[in-house]
Amino acid sequence: MLIETLSTFPNMYDSVMGTSIMKRAQDKGALQFRAYDLRDWTHDRHRTTDDDPYGGGHGLVMKCEPIFEAYEAITRDAALPKPTTVFLSPCGRSFDDALATELSQSERLLFVCGHYEGIDERAYALADVTVSLGDYVLTSGELASMVVIDAVVRKIPGVLGAELGAVEESFAGGLLEYPQYTRPASFRGSCVPDVLLSGNHAAIARWRREQSLARTAQLRPDLLRCADLDEADRRFLRNFLESAHA
Ligand SMILES: C[S@@+](CC[C@H](N)C(=O)[O-])C[C@H]1O[C@@H](n2cnc3c(N)ncnc32)[C@H](O)[C@@H]1O
Repeated sequence: MLIETLSTFPNMYDSVMGTSIMKRAQDKGALQFRAYDLRDWTHDRHRTTDDDPYGGGHGLVMKCEPIFEAYEAITRDAALPKPTTVFLSPCGRSFDDALATELSQSERLLFVCGHYEGIDERAYALADVTVSLGDYVLTSGELASMVVIDAVVRKIPGVLGAELGAVEESFAGGLLEYPQYTRPASFRGSCVPDVLLSGNHAAIARWRREQSLARTAQLRPDLLRCADLDEADRRFLRNFLESAHA
């Protein structure tokens, strides 16, 4: 997958994209990453990317000309697929696992990041999808795009060490993940559940499934509406909820 970003502070990506899984994905050849500086498509001495808002008000708005020029230059190479262009904005579609999966199917993603008071509305004509991280306001889109990129890259086959890593994580089957433990088996009087030390793989798998179901029912009951449940899951949930309300 080719992931590109267009923003005014491209060096913000150095740390995240040069560390851990994001770096490994590039080392393995599963990911190519390029961060473009929007200022490279300005034509004045000060490399201006923003201007006062029409109609007055505080702050500055990012101009659409450099964004269009950059987009045209970045997408000019006919040998590359047209990117899925993702704008980041608090006014976008809420980011979740389903959207991460959708974006991970694309061969090429281009993220356009705002700063200041946001981006001239006319630039959104370039967007295939506008994504919001949640109901709060960040200083810039770089941080938001890094969250999206991380969640997407984890889903590229072969990127995670264990091939099933992303398949078993929270939200993958519509449930939260079961509790995880590592050594020591006993820490300050708190012990790892016996079943995890039993070596009985079927019992461990059943315990994990039930823990996922119970945890989701307790913490995110809304997820159960769309979760992938079989008859044994439903039976477990009925008993669990009855005993919780008893
Ligand atoms: C200070 S914000 C602009 C907020 C805008 N004035 C508003 O009220 O909707 C600057 C940039 O940060 C990014 N951003 C801020 N909050 C975000 C969020 N919740 N999700 C995605 N991007 C966000 C966007 O790229 C945005 O253009």
